[in-house]
Amino acid sequence: MQNDSQILKPQAAPLMLGLAGFGTVGSGLIRILEENREAIIRRVGRDIRIKTILVRDPGKTRACAMPEGARFCGSREELLNDPEIEVVVELMGGLDAAGALIRAALAAGKHVVTANKALLAEAGNELFTLAQDKGLFLGYEASVCGGVPVVQALRSALSANEFSSLTGILNGTCNYIISSMTINGTSFDCALKQAQELGFAEADPTLDIGGFDTAHKLILLVRLAWGVDYPYAELPVTGIRSISPDDIQFAREFNYTIKLLGRARRDANGRIEAGVFPAMVPTSYLLARVGSSYNAVRLEGNAVGSIFMHGKGAGDTPTGSAVAADIMEIARGDRPNNLGYNLRGLPPADIVPTEEAISSFYIRLRVKDRIGVMRDVATVLAEHRISIQQALQKGTDDIVSLIFMTHACKTKDVIGALAKLAAMDFMGAEPVYYRVLPPPCGD
Ligand code: NAP
Ligand code: HSE
Repeated sequence: MQNDSQILKPQAAPLMLGLAGFGTVGSGLIRILEENREAIIRRVGRDIRIKTILVRDPGKTRACAMPEGARFCGSREELLNDPEIEVVVELMGGLDAAGALIRAALAAGKHVVTANKALLAEAGNELFTLAQDKGLFLGYEASVCGGVPVVQALRSALSANEFSSLTGILNGTCNYIISSMTINGTSFDCALKQAQELGFAEADPTLDIGGFDTAHKLILLVRLAWGVDYPYAELPVTGIRSISPDDIQFAREFNYTIKLLGRARRDANGRIEAGVFPAMVPTSYLLARVGSSYNAVRLEGNAVGSIFMHGKGAGDTPTGSAVAADIMEIARGDRPNNLGYNLRGLPPADIVPTEEAISSFYIRLRVKDRIGVMRDVATVLAEHRISIQQALQKGTDDIVSLIFMTHACKTKDVIGALAKLAAMDFMGAEPVYYRVLPPPCGD
């Protein structure tokens, strides 16, 4: 039993929410607010209640019961015009309807919590400025890495650092697919279906497997780490569709694991080199051991050194946990700076073009097994200033795989060499190339 002297502040009226979206994340949030109600009240000093829920089809069967006292509403306006609702929680996804709802909510003086990384990556500068001008909280912890509190870490706990790089496994669906292919030999399509059934995938899974969801999250992390706006449309993005069981096996033979990474670095001149790509990660790195739908982020700060954060990056309650935490900040009366910078809007990033990026590469060619092919390939690589570190030929059919690990070279030289090779008569398929993480950036 708690006596009165232990209560730090009087119980305020419940914080009333309007929830838009009762799907995977919406259901996770509802369950957390119901099941952890007492713990939440002990932490924030007041109850948090969902009053109204906006969905497309109120007749649909839901993954959990309607919260006590809540009801479906017929329109966005009904939710926005209710003065009792202080916070709009946007868990619908998509750009247009979600963007219109958030703009209208901020205009109406309501705080907003969202998990919508796509919208924030594309329209974040505008929405954050709108929220800032109104003195409102625009919470988005759930938008990056689900339950892993990387937004708050960058905005607050690590905010005294200058960062040189960040590297992340930011998409649970892709990591689930690659891990299932690597560990269980599951086919790509079967693993994708499982990820969809488990609620990890986006409504449109090409956002996941095309690398675009990782790109959305990377844009948000770049903003938080360096206080600059990197236009989403300019970020180079490669997805995971080209990864074959052969690549996974060859990677293993070289002691690497393939992962889809979002990676950004800042050079000595303050320029940002960023991109999303499948990469060969040495098996000894912590990043290589991040399995299933787990996410991880590795940050290099000049004061703190290396930081590695790891946890569930997708799914109902891991994501709901982050949404609930943002709502609890509002309930407490905390009004954190949404972006973590004392600026109105963020300046544009000074971008290093992707072709200038320097890395070691894995190159896989399918070629006719005949005299002189290895010589011709080596000649083209040499003409493009690419030095071979290791080479391997695999297969016994007419078409075999040639695999090269290169020393560090410019991306544009690899692209040029592979374009030239692709036109040669001994080629059996499109060349494939992935970056290789260098040992100094390891764990
Ligand atoms: P979901 O399962 O597809 O649920 C979407 C919900 O929004 C549904 O209840 C749907 O209504 C409602 N909705 C969609 N469009 C609407 C519209 N125009 N008007 C009214 N209601 C609308 O999606 P989710 O997986 O929960 O994802 C929600 C958001 O969280 C997305 O931004 C996603 O990127 C993000 N996110 C998801 C995860 C995850 O693990 N799933 C993790 C992090 C972030 P009906 O139910 O009636 O169709
Ligand atoms: N589709 C996303 C993923 C959801 O798989 O990571 C979490 O943002």
